[in-house]
Formats: sequence, C-alpha cells, structure tokens
Amino acid sequence: MKDLQSLEELLKQVSVEEGLQKVAGLYPGKVKFSSSLGQEDQVLTDMISRNAIDISIFTLDTGRLFNETYELLEKTELRYKKKIEVFFPNAPDVQEMVNKNGINLFYNSVEERKMCCNIRKVEPLNRALADASVWVTGLRSSQTTLRHELPLLEWLPEKQLIKYNPLLHWSYDEVMEYMKIYSVPYNPLHDKGFVSIGCAPCTRAIEPGEDPRAGRWWWESSHKECGLHVNK
Ligand code: ADX
Ligand code: SF4
Repeated sequence: MKDLQSLEELLKQVSVEEGLQKVAGLYPGKVKFSSSLGQEDQVLTDMISRNAIDISIFTLDTGRLFNETYELLEKTELRYKKKIEVFFPNAPDVQEMVNKNGINLFYNSVEERKMCCNIRKVEPLNRALADASVWVTGLRSSQTTLRHELPLLEWLPEKQLIKYNPLLHWSYDEVMEYMKIYSVPYNPLHDKGFVSIGCAPCTRAIEPGEDPRAGRWWWESSHKECGLHVNK
C-alpha cells in the first residue's frame, strides 16, 4: 500500500478542500461521502458543493431519525442544489426484527441494539458503497477514544475501498467556526444541547461538561459505537 501512504502524506499537506479535489480527481465518479447531516458532515457538504467537487453524497435513513434531521436534509438539498441520495434498510429485515424483538428492542441489550444498528445502518451502508472506490466520512479523532487512532486514509479490505476522513484533525471549535463563516445550515437540535445526533430513541441532549458522545446510547456503559466505523 505504498501509493496510499504517499497519497496520505500529500493530503496531510493540503487544505481539506484541496484534499477532496485531489481524491475526486484520482477516482472520478467513484468517491462517495456518507452524511448523517451532523455538523462535521454539513461542513463537508458545503465544501463539496461550493467547489463543485465530483463527490456524490448519500445518507442512511434508519427510519428512526429526528424530524429535525429530515427537515435539514430537505433544506440542505435546496441550499446547495445538490441531491443527497437516501438509502433505506431492507424492509423485510426490519419487519422481522421488529415483530420478533419489539419496536424498541435496542433498550433490551447491547446485542439487540447492535442488531438494530446492523439492519438499519451497516447493511444499507455496504449497499451504498458497493460501487465506490473511496468512502469519505466526517469522523474526527477527538470525538471518542476509539477514534483517536484513526488514520486520515485507510484501506478497508472487507469493503475493498479506501476510507478518507478529511476532518480527522479538526477540533470542534474549528467545525463551529467554519459553520459560522459560511452560514452552513445545521440541525436546530444542536442549539438544545444535542452534540452528536443519531436516531431519535438513541440520542439525548447532554449537560455542559459532559462527554460529547454521552448522549448516544446513554443507557449503555460500553464503547458507544454502532458498527459503521468501529466494530467493537
Ligand atoms: S456513529 O457511528 O456514531 O453513528 P457518527 O454519528 O459519529 O457515527 O458519525 C460519524 C460519521 O459516520 C459521519 O460523519 C458520517 O460520515 C457517518 N454516518 C453516521 N451516521 C450516518 C447516517 N445516518 N448516514 C450517513 N452517514 C452516517
Ligand atoms: Fe437502531 Fe438506535 Fe442503532 Fe438507530 S441508533 S439503528 S434506532 S439501535
């Protein structure tokens, strides 16, 4: 993976916008960005759209998102005149899971929560990325301890693609500063104490001083990852 290493070195030396341009140029039509419509993702959508970078954007609609997130999806498409492709879970799988384990099975056990994340997020993600060569995410290393060690660029053998985390070394303040400068549309829940926003039944607002991820799967004491990025 020598080529990947030299590309990573190059990406470390340029701005995020230049990095996105570079990667899009190397893999025309094959770079896909997964957006949850969170702050980091909105920054990347702004950069991609304002600079007309050849990167397509998709989101995973788990069926359990906040109404505010759906409203932001519509607002973002209108603002940037860019389509955000929506991927849904496989309906028969959701139906079977819900009928067998209950509509709110995620509160029962970590196993059932992971089953729900697998069916509603991970399987649709794999489908969304099936024809991609590069997967762009809005991950930042300071978000969780498990994310501290993420690289800027990574070859994922199981998905047979390169994962690119262009905002890896940005701080939360840098994200907020960018949002302000470019008046990037954001989820109004952020103003109500929600920092990291996922599905409605699995996300709560946090108190000042709490860990930014404390509001995700708050009833669990474990690693607070859903399997999209870290399989622990
Ligand atoms: S999660 O694993 O805990 O759910 P988080 O909300 O921190 O992830 O988001 C990290 C990155 O995962 C986002 O920047 C985005 O690239 C991707 N992601 C998370 N949720 C979604 C979603 N519903 N749709 C598309 N991408 C998502
Ligand atoms: Fe299911 Fe909650 Fe995971 Fe969403 S975050 S897919 S509702 S367990």
